[in-house]
Amino acid sequence: MPEFHVVYRHREYGRPLTTLAEYTRVGGFLGLRDAIAMSSDDVLYAFHRSGLRGRGGAGFPMGRKASFLPKNTGKPTYVVCNADESEPGTFKDREIIEQNPFQLIEGIAIAAHAVGCERAYIYIRGEYEAQATVLDAALAETREAGHLGPDALGEGRPFDITLYRGSGAYICGEETALLESLEGKRGQPRLKPPFPAVAGLYGCPTLINNVETLAALPPIMHRGPDWYAALGPEKSPGTKVFSVSGHVLRPGNYEVVLGRTTLRELIVDMAGGLRPGRQVKAVWPGGSSVPVIGAGSLDVPLDYESLEGVGTFLGSGGCIVMDDTGCIVRACHRLAQFYRHESCGKCTPCREGTGWLENILGRMVEGRGRGDDDIRMLEGLFGRISGRTLCALADGAVMPVQSALELFRDEFVRVAHEGSPRPAPMTEAPVG
Ligand SMILES: Cc1cc2nc3c(=O)[nH]c(=O)nc-3n(C[C@H](O)[C@H](O)[C@H](O)COP(=O)(O)O)c2cc1C
Ligand code: SF4
Repeated sequence: MPEFHVVYRHREYGRPLTTLAEYTRVGGFLGLRDAIAMSSDDVLYAFHRSGLRGRGGAGFPMGRKASFLPKNTGKPTYVVCNADESEPGTFKDREIIEQNPFQLIEGIAIAAHAVGCERAYIYIRGEYEAQATVLDAALAETREAGHLGPDALGEGRPFDITLYRGSGAYICGEETALLESLEGKRGQPRLKPPFPAVAGLYGCPTLINNVETLAALPPIMHRGPDWYAALGPEKSPGTKVFSVSGHVLRPGNYEVVLGRTTLRELIVDMAGGLRPGRQVKAVWPGGSSVPVIGAGSLDVPLDYESLEGVGTFLGSGGCIVMDDTGCIVRACHRLAQFYRHESCGKCTPCREGTGWLENILGRMVEGRGRGDDDIRMLEGLFGRISGRTLCALADGAVMPVQSALELFRDEFVRVAHEGSPRPAPMTEAPVG
């Protein structure tokens, strides 16, 4: 299956669309023009009709979320673009920002028109320094051209976007922690409800969406929501970018129509397959926080429902591939280290539980395991963490390990008794 470009339109032209002149030449800002010609309610309805779902991880319908924002509250309404992109294995938003930044800016302006917002924010992860520079320049050019500023949305309606750089914390990708951070406070998740749609930034109605979600809006508005809805299955329409990494020969981003490409086609035909003689052992198809699946699930079509059908999630589309040379327990330990480090510490089950996960897996890998006792301890731990915390970081720490233990139990038992040998370095360098 070939790629199909909705948010990666720069690839159609074979070059980055990083000047306003280039972006305008390929039809840039026509979606905003069409949206402004419609009432905000009609634009909201178009979001609904398109069937677009959030691309940040949870897959919540975008139009439904936008329609939750109360109107005429007497308070400002905000749009916040989540460009924190910190989920291990996920690097899709980076390419939109670097190579197609105006489409993101246009998408944010369309969302702003729909919900009646005059000020939007882009919260970009601290490590994306080069990307922030590209975005800054694109925002300045857009402002100069009048697409941002006092008359940005026509009839004297002002609109502008502020770029805010984070400081390098995974938890600040969680929407309410992001809002806390944006307000200048410590980045820790809030108790929900109230949800950001009702009480978000500074307690005001706030629409918060991922980069890829917002970047899909200009083509949806210009080519029509029905065109978008016809791409892919009824419940999972549109395209999705998958960032493929790990033991593949051509790691990178691939934008596909949902439901029309299988996981095997993504890994083999697009990402170049594995090194000669190697087999797929495990895949995390939606970022490191989703349950891992094995080689038996490779023919699953890539869409939300089909992936749930094989026990995992589409998540953020960060597809991490491990071949048969990898140790699954070692990989789980590495992930546990990450989640323990990134836990904000607000909830006891997460703060303590991620530490226990790391410690147990660590001693198993290092050959200091306690055999079957460690397996039993792991199994007892999962239920004490999952579903008992303020945000989904803790569930994301448990799911990859719990699923790996179910799928590769014999390997866990062996490592718990014998440890795990150090991995051999990869000899073939990835290409592309
Ligand atoms: C621990 C954690 C980290 C997250 N990191 C990100 C992130 O880096 N980028 C993102 O868009 N969403 C992230 N999310 C999801 C956001 O909370 C939120 O659902 C998303 O921004 C909504 O946008 P969407 O509906 O367009 O997907 C994260 C969630 C959790 C629990
Ligand atoms: S689950 Fe973890 S990261 Fe999320 S709020 Fe609780 S302690 Fe913080």
